[in-house]
Amino acid sequence: MYTFLKDKLLDEEGKEIMMEWETSLMEEHAKIVTANGGDILEIGFGMGICSNFIQQANINTHTIIEIHNEVFERLLEWAKDKPNVIPIKGDWFDSIPKDKKYDGIMHDTWEEKNWHHFLPNIKSSLNPKGIVSFYNSETEESLKNNCNNIKWSTLDLKKIKVKPPINNMKYKYYDRNIYFVPKLTI
Ligand SMILES: C[S@@+](CC[C@H](N)C(=O)[O-])C[C@H]1O[C@@H](n2cnc3c(N)ncnc32)[C@H](O)[C@@H]1O
Repeated sequence: MYTFLKDKLLDEEGKEIMMEWETSLMEEHAKIVTANGGDILEIGFGMGICSNFIQQANINTHTIIEIHNEVFERLLEWAKDKPNVIPIKGDWFDSIPKDKKYDGIMHDTWEEKNWHHFLPNIKSSLNPKGIVSFYNSETEESLKNNCNNIKWSTLDLKKIKVKPPINNMKYKYYDRNIYFVPKLTI
């Protein structure tokens, strides 16, 4: 069973899956993927922080794919008063609707085996001016290398200051004070 607290989401071993300190960076991710409005695909609901920011934008639909049972139940509850939300239960890897294209796609999962398939394969789900962003714990250099290898047309990195509460983290998944928010277009 996951533990849902006000400021964090923990797995069965008490490891942090998502934390409130990430709010500022989720706000940036949401701004980036909703810049053109339209149909947005979000992968990984977590605490719904990014989802709330996406909802504040002027968009058409907001599809959210979530794999975990308890998190998905929370997503359904959260979506009750949000008519443009389309919740999908499953692994994004085989659950992205094949008959739809998106104007913005945000990826933020956790300990998943198919992450390396995301950037090379997601282009086919994008509209021509579509935008992709994703949570990462990479340096500027490794982000540039990884994204350039996959030949996206543009990669912009927004540098933001962050303050992870490293001493209060069991699973020290982010320990730098700079975070790069990627924006990719095809
Ligand atoms: C770090 S949290 C997302 C946090 C979210 N961006 C927020 O603002 O609260 C990661 C989420 O991705 C989900 N997840 C992990 N692997 C997944 C997969 N393969 N497909 C869909 N969701 C996945 C997890 O269950 C978890 O809810």
